[in-house]
Amino acid sequence: MTIAAPIDRPISTLSSLSNHMPYSEFERHHDAAHLDPTDFFRWYDRARQQGIVAEVPPLELDWLVLQLTSLDRLALRLRSVSIATIPAAISLSEFEQRWQQRCWDRVPVQYLAGFTTWRSFDLRVTPDVLIPRPETEAIIDLAIEAAGNCLDGDWVDLGTGSGAIAIGLARELAARQAIARVHASDLSDAALAIARQNAADCGVADRIQFYQGSWFEPFQHHHPHLTFRAVISNPPYIPAATVDQLAPEVRDREPRLALDGGETGFDGLSVLIDQAPPWLERDGIWLVEHEARQGAALRDRLSQRGYREVRTVQDWAGLDRFAIARAPI
Ligand SMILES: C[S@@+](CC[C@H](N)C(=O)[O-])C[C@H]1O[C@@H](n2cnc3c(N)ncnc32)[C@H](O)[C@@H]1O
Repeated sequence: MTIAAPIDRPISTLSSLSNHMPYSEFERHHDAAHLDPTDFFRWYDRARQQGIVAEVPPLELDWLVLQLTSLDRLALRLRSVSIATIPAAISLSEFEQRWQQRCWDRVPVQYLAGFTTWRSFDLRVTPDVLIPRPETEAIIDLAIEAAGNCLDGDWVDLGTGSGAIAIGLARELAARQAIARVHASDLSDAALAIARQNAADCGVADRIQFYQGSWFEPFQHHHPHLTFRAVISNPPYIPAATVDQLAPEVRDREPRLALDGGETGFDGLSVLIDQAPPWLERDGIWLVEHEARQGAALRDRLSQRGYREVRTVQDWAGLDRFAIARAPI
């Protein structure tokens, strides 16, 4: 299941529907409510109509229902409920309240459910963290591929938000039996609290160290002599004026700190280019996500700064999305 389009493109709809709910709110509070099927489907039909008027894709309603009730996709479609009541995580009035928030307050459906699925795992999300985007998933594979057989060592995810990249890396490195440590930092304490919880829920808390502070700053205090196998980041990269034009679901609901890359969008990216070299191992990997129009400028800046093997990688939509390079010698 994915919901959000790249941040720099208009919102954000479910691109597929999943029944996968390994740690949905339903499982955590599975007996919280029992819904009368007739009442439920009456509400569902009304909610669908409302969604159409509010220009919210019907897939989002279905996703919310599938995550927060015991219904599966077939039962929802055929309305074939063989039980007297539908077990659900929330009452019908809470469904109604959350759907109103989706339609009229433009709250992303993942915040309403409290989690999203990213790669093959679930992550808690609150308005303190950016909802991890599907196209960012590829950054994990790019990093692992670039590292080849040299996976051991220290890896860092700067601007970790929900912890998505750090957790994705920790899982992949563990699966490959690498002797690796993942470090993750963020300026936002509130985001770090969510990231820590996510790491614990995903069983990788002992593989990730979290730090509060700006970009490399925490490492100057905690590990001044550390060098990283890879420096990875999905920094805020949207020009400030563009942020104001984004869909309200993004502009008004996701943290501005996660979106706003300053006047040109390059504030965070420039720090990452300028400050990474002394933190990188020999042949270390520098890998960031960026806005589609920033590819050429990033290649130029990286080459001027002495980075090697500089290249751009496109996302599944064919847009420039990642810049990857090796440490300057
Ligand atoms: C685009 S979000 C990426 C979140 C997550 N890594 C992901 O891919 O879903 C950017 C993150 O950078 C963090 N951030 C912004 N400025 C920062 C800074 N100066 N130092 C560290 N983190 C920062 C934000 O709080 C936010 O969590």
